[in-house]
Formats: sequence, C-alpha cells, structure tokens
Amino acid sequence: MLPHPTLVAHYPTPEAKPEFVNRLFDRGARHYDSVVDWGFLHSGSAYRRRALQHHGLRPNDHLLDVASGTGLVAIEAAKILGTARDITCLDPSAGMLAVARAKLSATFVSGRAEQIPLPDNAYDFLTMGYALRHVTSLEVTFREFYRVLKPGGKLLILEMTRPSGRLPAFFFRLYFGRIYPSLTRLFTRSREARDMMHYYWETMEACVPPAAVLHALQSAGLTAVKRDPVMGLFSEYTAVKPAARPGGDPSLLRPPSL
Ligand SMILES: C[S@@+](CC[C@H](N)C(=O)[O-])C[C@H]1O[C@@H](n2cnc3c(N)ncnc32)[C@H](O)[C@@H]1O
Repeated sequence: MLPHPTLVAHYPTPEAKPEFVNRLFDRGARHYDSVVDWGFLHSGSAYRRRALQHHGLRPNDHLLDVASGTGLVAIEAAKILGTARDITCLDPSAGMLAVARAKLSATFVSGRAEQIPLPDNAYDFLTMGYALRHVTSLEVTFREFYRVLKPGGKLLILEMTRPSGRLPAFFFRLYFGRIYPSLTRLFTRSREARDMMHYYWETMEACVPPAAVLHALQSAGLTAVKRDPVMGLFSEYTAVKPAARPGGDPSLLRPPSL
C-alpha cells in the first residue's frame, strides 16, 4: 500500500517518486533544521527526546534511525544513550546526510527504508521520524523493519496526522498548507525550502488514515502494534518484533511472506 496516492502535480508515476523526493530533500537540506525549529515553536528536540524516552529507548540499545535526515531524532537518542556510537543513521539524501554528519559521530548509511542495506536481527530499537509518507510501500518498509530488528526489538514511528474535527482541520490546513510554506520562503529566501515544506503539507493532507498504518504494521508480523495520538496532531506508532523463545520457531527471525 502507498502511504498516499501518487501526487501527479509533482511526479507522474509511483516509480518516479523516490527521485523527486530525493531531489527535494537534497535541495532543502541546508534549511531543514532552522525551518522545522521555528515552524514547531522550538519544541521539536524536546518532543523527539520525550517520545524516545517514553517508548523505552535505553542506554546500550543499538539504534537504527531510518530516514534520519539531518539527525534530529538521532541527536536526541544520543543524549539518552550517552553516546552516538551505537546509532546507525539511514537516509537516501546525500544532502541531508551531509548536514547530519557535521553534527553527530554516528554511523551513516545511504539507503531507503524499503531496501535497508543492513543485516538481519541487528537492532534493539528502530526509529523513523516524519518520513513514513515518503516510502513507496508501507508493507515492504515494515517487513524491512521486522527483518533488521532483533527478536524483542522495538519500533517507534513519529508522524503528523491531519486532525479529524472540522475546526482543527481548518487551522491545520491554514498553517501547514499556507502560512508555514510562505513564512519558509520569506525567512530563507529559498524556493527549494518553500517547496520542501509545501510538499510536507501535501503528503500529510493525502496520507492514508492511522488504521491503514496499524494494519500494515500487523501484516508485517509485528506485535503490540499501537498508535498514541498526541495533541490531536502527532501520531506515535509503536510495535515489537516477537521475541524468539529458546528452541523456538526460527522462522520468527524473518518477516512473514507477503
Ligand atoms: C521530513 S525529513 C525527517 C528527518 C528526521 N527524521 C526528523 O525527524 O526531522 C524526511 C527524511 O526522509 C528521507 N526519506 C525520503 N524517502 C525515504 C525513503 N524511501 N527511505 C528512507 N528515508 C527517506 C528524506 O531524505 C528526509 O531526510
């Protein structure tokens, strides 16, 4: 399942999406940190750290941060882990990775969530911050998450979700669809940064509902699948790869076939 229908105003076919998205983030990378900082009223770092702590990231965990971008999730994770040594950051955008590398001494890997170039059963914790809308298939992505997590390993996906009530939805659309992209253009004087934040809005608007994400997580064989809504705006999806019992079924180490 696609996280949102093909946005033909930007790219003609689903196959063309990765290249479009990559170009968008490569071009906007140098503005990303400042734009999301003021756009979310300087709350982003504290929110990401609270979510990681609340959902159980612990010192000594090996963390894979998928769609790490400029490292905003990984930096907060390093504060909890006490080191960036056990963090691997994965992202397809060379521009976003270059910004992250300058801030953090983690391991950086170029790649996409749908085909993670990392071994099976390797990570205690996997995060993905504000990037689920950019993958080409929820099921394929979640099967990859299952594969790279250790048995008993945990997954945390942070997302924005369009509110359902009419009035909150109106203000959501006004801010993210109009005010935020316009202010981005004004403050950065960059059309690329404005385009990045306008696309951010369009994908939120078009995104499948939370129930579809939960269903895709379950279909990938993950357990304890849950969504915590926060302030009617944020979604924290969590899931666990089933633990392997001693002498248990070794097929649990692999995701169920599609
Ligand atoms: C909005 S940024 C989020 C960055 C960071 N996680 C955060 O919390 O701010 C989205 C990131 O997803 C990355 N991305 C786009 N498509 C991806 C894919 N198929 N797999 C993994 N990452 C992807 C982009 O390059 C970009 O760095």
